[in-house]
Amino acid sequence: MQIASHAKINWSLRITGRRGDGFHELETLFQTISLQDDISFHRSDRPTFICDAPDVPADDTNLVMRAVRAMGSPPVAIELHKRIPAGGGLGGGSSNAAATLRAIDTLFEMHTPMERLRETAVQLGSDVPFFLLGGTAFATGRGEQLSPLPLVAPVPLLLILPEERVSTAEAFRAITRFSKPLGIEAYRRMIDDDLLAHASSLTNDFEEPIFSRHPRLQKYKHALLASGAAWAAMTGSGSTIVGAFRSQSVRDAAIVAFSGVRAVAAETV
Ligand code: C5P
Repeated sequence: MQIASHAKINWSLRITGRRGDGFHELETLFQTISLQDDISFHRSDRPTFICDAPDVPADDTNLVMRAVRAMGSPPVAIELHKRIPAGGGLGGGSSNAAATLRAIDTLFEMHTPMERLRETAVQLGSDVPFFLLGGTAFATGRGEQLSPLPLVAPVPLLLILPEERVSTAEAFRAITRFSKPLGIEAYRRMIDDDLLAHASSLTNDFEEPIFSRHPRLQKYKHALLASGAAWAAMTGSGSTIVGAFRSQSVRDAAIVAFSGVRAVAAETV
């Protein structure tokens, strides 16, 4: 079986506190997007994993293989065709892990209860439970307390994928101030109204510390807004900068402003 493993963006990401267990409390609005990896799963005689991206370790430390072990190491042959850049805040590894949990459950007819699957997912990473759900979702806690929200209609996006790589753990360590949570109803109202009209209420608390270390990233955000994006922000802990547009034609015209950096068109799914 072949599975599409989608990337995500964060419409908003507020870090609301530090916990005793090494994690932070946050409040985020997650969104899956059309950029995807393809993963194929076949019954085999033992678990094997190959990946076509040279910068992705296809060994036991890969989240895909960690997901296989979490499901009891069934004999599955996995091939990963990578399009989502690693270390860019797009959740590629987390998405691959969620796809693996789901595929193994189906392929080996395990009928794992959803609650068990969610518990396994959060042990693999804070963003993994979201990818079991997809679409638009409000999240609190480490990012694993999820409430689906009505889908944001397909929004044209432009992803700017700089060379800079940001470590998530390092980005959290750089947070010195905490934000007040807005609460799910605030996001529900923004979505019901017109999410892009509320761009100024959508903030990412990682931008300040990461932009001060990598000023080029802030320039990309400003360039997206200057090229007609209704909203632009860093996604996750970076380094991807994403712009959302009112129309595909404005988005397509904006691409020319980004020579010398990888720019990829996508949309919300
Ligand atoms: O859960 P995940 O493996 O993605 O987290 C990577 C690192 O990011 C954690 O070890 C922790 O340092 C940091 N983190 C955090 N608070 C979160 C999520 C991640 O401090 N809610």
